[in-house]
Amino acid sequence: MTDSPWWKKSTVYQVYPRSFCDSNGDGIGDLPGILCHLDHIQRLGADVIWLNPIYASPNDDNGYDISDYRAIMPEFGTMADFDALLREAHRRGIRILMDLVVNHTSDEHPWFREARKGKDNPFRDYYIWREGKNGGPPNNWGSAFGGPAWAQTEEGGEYYLHLFSPKQPDLNWDNPAVRREVHSLMRFWLDKGVDGFRMDVINYISKDPALPDGPLKGRWGDFAPFCVNGPRLHEYLREMRREVLRPYRVMTVGETPGVTVRDACLITSPDRGELDMVFQFEHMSLDEGERGKWCLDPIPLPALKETLSRWQTGLHGKGWNSLYWNNHDQPRIVSRLGDDSSEEKRTASAKMLGALLHMMQGTPFVYQGEELGMTNTPLPGIGDYRDIDTLNAWREWTLEGRLSPEEMLRLIRRRSRDNARTPMQWTGETHAGFTSGVPWLPVNPNHVFLNAARQIDDPDSVFSFYRKLICLRRTLEIVTEGDYRLLLEDHPLLFAYERRWRGEVLTVLCSFSSSLLAEPAAAPLLRGRELLCNYPPAEDPLVFRPYEARILLSGDTAAE
Ligand code: NOJ
Repeated sequence: MTDSPWWKKSTVYQVYPRSFCDSNGDGIGDLPGILCHLDHIQRLGADVIWLNPIYASPNDDNGYDISDYRAIMPEFGTMADFDALLREAHRRGIRILMDLVVNHTSDEHPWFREARKGKDNPFRDYYIWREGKNGGPPNNWGSAFGGPAWAQTEEGGEYYLHLFSPKQPDLNWDNPAVRREVHSLMRFWLDKGVDGFRMDVINYISKDPALPDGPLKGRWGDFAPFCVNGPRLHEYLREMRREVLRPYRVMTVGETPGVTVRDACLITSPDRGELDMVFQFEHMSLDEGERGKWCLDPIPLPALKETLSRWQTGLHGKGWNSLYWNNHDQPRIVSRLGDDSSEEKRTASAKMLGALLHMMQGTPFVYQGEELGMTNTPLPGIGDYRDIDTLNAWREWTLEGRLSPEEMLRLIRRRSRDNARTPMQWTGETHAGFTSGVPWLPVNPNHVFLNAARQIDDPDSVFSFYRKLICLRRTLEIVTEGDYRLLLEDHPLLFAYERRWRGEVLTVLCSFSSSLLAEPAAAPLLRGRELLCNYPPAEDPLVFRPYEARILLSGDTAAE
């Protein structure tokens, strides 16, 4: 298919620069550190890198609070370092996506510094201001990081909206000047040669201008009905495509919490001219409970099967899926859905989860360390955590006595975003070869045996398995193009599906059992040639070993 966009066959590798590799010993990862490790990414076979924000930022939310969209965060290096990274990545055939964070800026951005000066300031309308009500904020919304979604710059003054921290004021996209600024900063990076954008909470940019109270969710009202997929979202995305993106051969992926399959079809349908793909959150929310993500419930397999299958069939032929298990906001998947209780189980389940995801239709995203099967890192005490969301939740739940500190720490160790942010494990040496200084966040002690150096040349490692998966995607058209059907729908421990394309059938069978699983019902599915398995050849093909994954390819007998 010559007219198929390049990103359909790509695999994206997500780099969290702060935790990837520190080249100058200050304990913080940086751009030269990424340059040093392009070999690793190339060897894995990923052909696109998504960089989390690298712009100037006071780091209230690790770079998601930007104070200058055209400058590099000094801790990460210089613009010359960025240019060198882009050049070298391109030389190796690796593309680079930037993180576009334009739902909000930092409160230290010059626009906000001006806007806060008063109602008559020309930048005032770059943000969303309202008078308070009854001695309090204009409405009952809570912010995504806890507490109210409104703050004042001076007592008695107007309130500004911040759906995240008070240091992340929301931009007013209904102001055409704001949209022009965003278009212009996008062009700045595109003209440098970047290959696209991951767009932070992009479906929050259009708010219902009435800003009504939201339904109560705990203490605060929920902003979602009035800010998520708001009234002018599609208009703004189409405008962005028309005004900025159209002439460039780039890729766009929107981070879109709360999207349904229907919304995603609207956003990613190629003839509507919006985005190429979105990150949906349904499969990542299946283990949420009454306290949102702060609970210990597992992801239930039947719900996971139903959800991922619905997204596969729902977008087929209409839009395009992104595929992910991990990112900088999620705990490590092998500790969450796999099994990190022993080395054998960790390795087997990490590979199985990779196989399950990478053979689906969509563009896979691998988060740094996932290709090694990196696990959660239960840090010793709350003082070791750095993530604003975790620290706010700690305050909210423990200081008000709703949970004991021990209970909350247990939840944090399982669900904190810092689980994904501990430094990349390159070697078994001090600080995992991440830094010669003191790492900004502790390194997982398991780096002594779980590290890249041990895995790269080991044909049985998680790394080698991921490498094979990425290679299969690139070589087999059926992985990109085939349709999808869930098999053994009601099976409590097997997630099985098939893909069909031009007379071929690709079958994927994944066991979620931690022990041997004899399954005669799988017999009719074991057709064709085995392309990949995370175990040596089986003595009895109807017995699945713990977390076994098998990928098979055959001719389509039904079609013959
Ligand atoms: C989503 C990002 O992935 C997350 O890390 C950040 O805190 C929020 N958006 C706010 O920008």
